[in-house]
Order: sequence, then structure tokens, then C-alpha cells
Amino acid sequence: MNKWYDEIKEAQSVDTLEEIRLAVFGKKGVLAQEFAKMKTAPNEEKSKIAQELNTHKSSLMNEFTARKITLQTLELQEAMKAEDIDVSMFSTTSQSGALHPVMETMDRIVEYFSSMNFAVKTGSMIEDDFHNFEALNLPKYHPARDMQDTFYFKDEMLLRTHTSPVQIRTMMNNKPPIRMIAPGAVFRRDYDITHTPMFHQIEGLLVDEMGKVSFANLKFILEDFLKYMFGDVDVRFRPSFFPFTEPSAEVDISCVFCSGKGCRVCSKTGWLEVLGCGIVDPNVFEAVKYEDVSGYAFGLGVERFAMLIHQIGDLRSLFEGDIKLLEQFQ
Ligand code: PHE
Repeated sequence: MNKWYDEIKEAQSVDTLEEIRLAVFGKKGVLAQEFAKMKTAPNEEKSKIAQELNTHKSSLMNEFTARKITLQTLELQEAMKAEDIDVSMFSTTSQSGALHPVMETMDRIVEYFSSMNFAVKTGSMIEDDFHNFEALNLPKYHPARDMQDTFYFKDEMLLRTHTSPVQIRTMMNNKPPIRMIAPGAVFRRDYDITHTPMFHQIEGLLVDEMGKVSFANLKFILEDFLKYMFGDVDVRFRPSFFPFTEPSAEVDISCVFCSGKGCRVCSKTGWLEVLGCGIVDPNVFEAVKYEDVSGYAFGLGVERFAMLIHQIGDLRSLFEGDIKLLEQFQ
């Protein structure tokens, strides 16, 4: 009998303990066998044997129950340890998000002009004919309206084709001087590798007393800005035309792909066009009822900057939401 006490104490698993239980307490277990033997024992010894066996039976049962609880607790602890999740551990598969290259480029441009004390102004994407065209010296039937293929709603409302209406609204609501940029989405009926129906512009406007603003001021800040964005590039101003500025210029930088030697991207010219600008046309000031002021304005396409900075070939790929492209900007 005594060996079973040790067996129970030393059992290492609930399963082994169960085998022992059957061997001791089972129908054909040792206790049953001992009780069976008792029947053949002399009568006067029977009660003594029965007493001993019953004492063993209850002691063994106590041992068994105690060991079972210990083993079950241990096994539960083991199982919990195995299933334990360390919530503070880094996962190797998680990926962090990133700003879209267009937004990141926009932020950098805004950062530059904010540091130069330009206020950031925004406006509505749905505009009327007056603010988008008329006040910008683009009267009805003016041929230059064709430069901007417009999405129209009824009642002379439209999707703004540039962020210039924000300048008109800012001037109409504020007295000069003005020093502002207007970043935002604009819309034109265009779609090919360098045009999408929606894209982003940043326009700048500076207005001060008559005679205080010159083309030299404009040239200085744009050159400084382009070097901030593209590093050590050459900058050149080419005469151009915009209805709302006179004189007007388009601004080129030396090609960032071939350093001005001439390649496929710059059509072998060595130059890339990046901006439009000019001295604000007096007709614009008349439309917003400003007197005795002078100013300069400029406008640029944010996607174009992003494409040149990140060497992206097809503008449309910026709007396809392809995770493989976006992952490269983390
Ligand atoms: N608004 C012009 C465009 O969208 C850009 C521009 C702004 C040009 C200001 C000159 C001055 O084409």
C-alpha cells in the first residue's frame, strides 16, 4: 500500500495521476483487490483489516486530491505562459504610414513661404465666374479662357481652375498690404501623362504701396525659393503672358535629371518650366477696388514639383493609390 503514496506524490501530470487513480481506486484496483482478499481472512481479523484499508482509502484519496489540484494549477500556468502575448513587443510586419508625396511637397512649399512671412489662405473649390475669371482680367469671350478648360455647373458656377480666386477674395476682404499664399486643389478638363482633372496649386500674392514692389523683388524670392526646393539649380525667367499679370514670365530651372546637359525629360533643352509669375495687372486692382498699390503674383503646380523632386514619370500614378508606389515614400 505504502508505495502508492509515493506514486501519487511523484506523479508529474494529470494524465499519470489518472492512471494511478484507476490502479488504486478502480474496480480492479489494489483497494478492491485488498477488500476481496479480506473475505478469505479469519473472521476475528476482518474488522481490523477493514479499518486499515478504509484508513488507507481515505488518506490516499486526500493525497490524490491534493496532488491533482497542484498538477492542474501547474498545467494551467504552463498553458497560460505558452499563450501569453507580450503587447509591448514590436511586430516585424507592421508598417508606418507616410504623407502622400504631393502633400509632403505642398508642406515644404508652405513652410518656405511661411518662413518668409506669407499668410496661408484657403478658399472654396466651387467658385463663380467673377472670382475665377472676370476679376482676374479675363472677361467673357476672352480667348485666354481657353487656356483653362473649365468644369461648369449651371448659373455661372464652376470648379475653380486655379487658386487665383482666393487672391481676389482676400483683397476684397482686406486692406493692403497683402502677403499671402493660397494652396489647394484646382480642376481642369485634361487627362494625359502630365495632366489630371484635379491637381494642386500654390499661388502667391504680395501687394504694397505703389512703387514699393518690383520685378526684382519677385525675381529674388522665386530664385531663393527654387534653390530651397531643388538645391543648386540655375534659374531663368522667360517673357510670357497671363491675363492677370503684366509683365509676365515663366520660370525655368536647369534640368534636375541631366544637370542642364539635355535629356528626354527636358526635351533636350536643359531647362524645366516650373512657375508662372508677373507684376499684378492694374485691371485686377481695379476689380477689387485697390488704389495706388503695386504687387507681384506667382503660381505653381504642386504635382509637377513632387514629380521633379521624386523623379516620377507619370503624373497619373500619383492618384492611383497604388500601395507599391506610396510605400516608397515612408
Ligand atoms: N493662375 C495661373 C495659372 O493657373 C498661374 C499664375 C498665377 C501665373 C499668378 C502668374 C501669376 O495658370
